[in-house]
Amino acid sequence: MQNPISSGASPSPARAPAPLGFGRVFTEHLLMLQWSQGRGWHDAEIRARADLAMDPAAAALHYGQSMFEGLKAFRGADGVVRVFRMDAHLRRMQNGAPRVAMPGIDIELTRTHLLELLRRDAAWVPRERGQSLYIRPLLYATEPFLGVRPAQTYTLLVLLSPVGAYYDKGMEALRIWVEQEHVRAAPGGLGAVKTGANYAASLVAAARAKANGFDQVLWLDAVHRKNLEEVGTMNFFVRIGDEVITPPLGDTILAGITRDTSIALLRSWGYKVSERTIGIEEVVQASRTGALQEAFGTGTAAVIAPVGELGVGDLRLRLPGAPGEVGSRLYSTITGLQYGELEDTHGWLSAI
Ligand code: COI
Repeated sequence: MQNPISSGASPSPARAPAPLGFGRVFTEHLLMLQWSQGRGWHDAEIRARADLAMDPAAAALHYGQSMFEGLKAFRGADGVVRVFRMDAHLRRMQNGAPRVAMPGIDIELTRTHLLELLRRDAAWVPRERGQSLYIRPLLYATEPFLGVRPAQTYTLLVLLSPVGAYYDKGMEALRIWVEQEHVRAAPGGLGAVKTGANYAASLVAAARAKANGFDQVLWLDAVHRKNLEEVGTMNFFVRIGDEVITPPLGDTILAGITRDTSIALLRSWGYKVSERTIGIEEVVQASRTGALQEAFGTGTAAVIAPVGELGVGDLRLRLPGAPGEVGSRLYSTITGLQYGELEDTHGWLSAI
């Protein structure tokens, strides 16, 4: 599909296609901030969305020195636009940047200008339940230099995209391939950082899984090739008996904000939640004994994505009840909070 909005056009939210899908439509404006050695962050500017002017030698293009974030704003039935967990997302970006030798963002400055951008393009925040405005900050090295070292100039841009469901299937259960050949991230590597390289590393296995009728892959650890890590672009949860298990954070797993939200909610409801190492063999065994209750992915884009089947080599583990009790409760509570229908007792929402 063609992007219906190109630079120089006079777009309007009414031109957005239906169904909206994910990440194809963009609003009119961009936020851009510059960073240089000695000056720090400067020259914040909201400008019309247009192609970027970039030196062909810019370090991000050659050596992948870049990272991004993804957060969302929601329009409630009361008309108020609220951003979900903005500070947690900005903090994660600030914390991740040093791992790819980039300057941390200035949280206060970024928040102030991001809110200004959101107010400017507020008409683009969809009105329908199930739709939202995806906010994509991107930090990248702009210095034109081909030597391999941390660049001395960077840009932070923020673009906005009205979105619907991430998966075409909506809340329909996903078929997941347990990937045993490729790995997403190795200990000591970049797996905990939202850098493009992690996503590039995932593409071949994901495409292969898709060609074989699966929706996404479940990544195993790079050393033993047996412990669960992440599912596609999401964190992974599995319920075995009365225990809800998710792999522990480390340097190979992204510290998902929806993961954190889900753990906090589950604990407040009295569920036993374990952040612990879990091998694929334990899941296979639980399936055999009937203890495997449900599995789901959590992420900003997908929110909660129920898993209906796991392909482990020749084995097919089926979870016929998907979406399960826990995934469904999390989905309705998280979306209820995001659309301002439930009381925000955690202070997770910022009205623009
Ligand atoms: C997220 O869900 O947090 C994401 O960033 C997904 C994105 C890579 C499409």
